[in-house]
Amino acid sequence: MNSYIETNKGRFLSELLDLLRIPSVSADPAFNADTRRAAVFVRDSLAAAGLDEVEICETAGHPIVFGQKMIDPALPTILVYGHYDVQPADPYELWNSPPFEPVIINERIFARGACDDKGQFYMHIKAVEAMLATNSLPCNVKIMIEGEEEVGSDNLGAFVIQNREKLRADVILISDTSIIANDVPSIETGLRGLSYVEVEVTGANRDLHSGVYGGAVANPINVLCDMIASLKDEDGRIMIPGFYDKVENLTAAQRKAMNEAPFSLEDYKADLQIDDVMGETNYTTIERTSIRPTLDVNGIWGGYTGQGAKTVLPSKASAKISMRLVPHQTPDEITELFSNHFRAIAPAGVRVQVRPHHGGLPYVTPTDSLEYQAAHRAMEESWGKAPIPTRGGGSIPIVALFEQQLGIKSILMGFGLDIDALHSPNESYGLFNFYKGIETIPLFFKHYAALKKG
Ligand code: BES
Ligand code: MN
Ligand code: MN
Repeated sequence: MNSYIETNKGRFLSELLDLLRIPSVSADPAFNADTRRAAVFVRDSLAAAGLDEVEICETAGHPIVFGQKMIDPALPTILVYGHYDVQPADPYELWNSPPFEPVIINERIFARGACDDKGQFYMHIKAVEAMLATNSLPCNVKIMIEGEEEVGSDNLGAFVIQNREKLRADVILISDTSIIANDVPSIETGLRGLSYVEVEVTGANRDLHSGVYGGAVANPINVLCDMIASLKDEDGRIMIPGFYDKVENLTAAQRKAMNEAPFSLEDYKADLQIDDVMGETNYTTIERTSIRPTLDVNGIWGGYTGQGAKTVLPSKASAKISMRLVPHQTPDEITELFSNHFRAIAPAGVRVQVRPHHGGLPYVTPTDSLEYQAAHRAMEESWGKAPIPTRGGGSIPIVALFEQQLGIKSILMGFGLDIDALHSPNESYGLFNFYKGIETIPLFFKHYAALKKG
């Protein structure tokens, strides 16, 4: 099989570049036709890999692509999940080359979606192709690639509930996360949840002259800034009553273990060109980005932002706020706590509206499970060193739903790096990572099938 991969490497890469040329931006309806083209591309590549019953499943939004190879019902089944949609490429002017015209520079592919998640799910299609072509698929496989992960996977939730039988499997395998470094393999054992809200503060019934009314009428932008500033204290703790009530506290031993993972604060700061980090007192950067919840403003607007100066008290100001959640916080509860608090702290003279957006539950997987051990062995075999378990900071909300609705655990065997710049301009993915994934995935299949056999 390795010689099959070796012989076909060049083709695998050029196919991925073709996929990256399709701007499948799920958030923006202007790209709907392209997003569908990406689904068709994925369907065709599942068929070309040798999967059966390959189909495009329609949803109320972007379609889900599915295919499977059932070789023996007595064998275990691995369900691969990924997403063919990508984040918007804006701001375009910050890209060194156009986001949907992939280029390879210094052994890295630069394009929107290179790592998140096209480059990563495509590894699975090529790994399955290699196993089928060399008659070495050791168990059944199902592949489901959706087109709405970056917008909250709303329709996938309904699809999962309606297709329990179709999706029946023993484990879910996902490559949509990162490793510590190319010479430090790791496996994410957790994802954070998410609560996302939009807030709007309204003052007077119209924009006002800031000389005639300024100083006497609430300025919604000033008020919104004050309200947001009050959400955290000087220790970076979130001041919403009840926010931490359910937060899982790790033991000193667990915290010590997670902080033993290789991490250089100097490199971290140098990469971001910042002279210091900032966050909750008494927690390390590793902890702040994994086991602790957060509250961040993602966007804020209002008033006059055009050329020159306009003297105006705006009537409205708005912000988008995200909270990353940890076990055992739930998006419904946290959104409710936020809304109640935010309305309560609004001063007289303004009205406040809070609109909830999508959310997702956090997820953790134990390291003593058979499926984790299979991933551990696969990475150990392909790297020649044992992978380190880490807790991730990002969210893949559907993973908790898979567990709730299908009763199946997910293994987060991702191959990205922090420097891949997910969601940022100049997103990239290393050729090393792409090929390492294609090599490691069949080892997961092998070890999983062997461990299940007992
Ligand atoms: N692949 C990411 C999540 C991720 C990235 C997890 C790196 C761990 C490490 C995923 O595509 C993503 O961006 N998720 C969103 C979820 C949201 C749109 C509901 C996120 O985390 O912001
Ligand atoms: Mn992703
Ligand atoms: Mn993403």
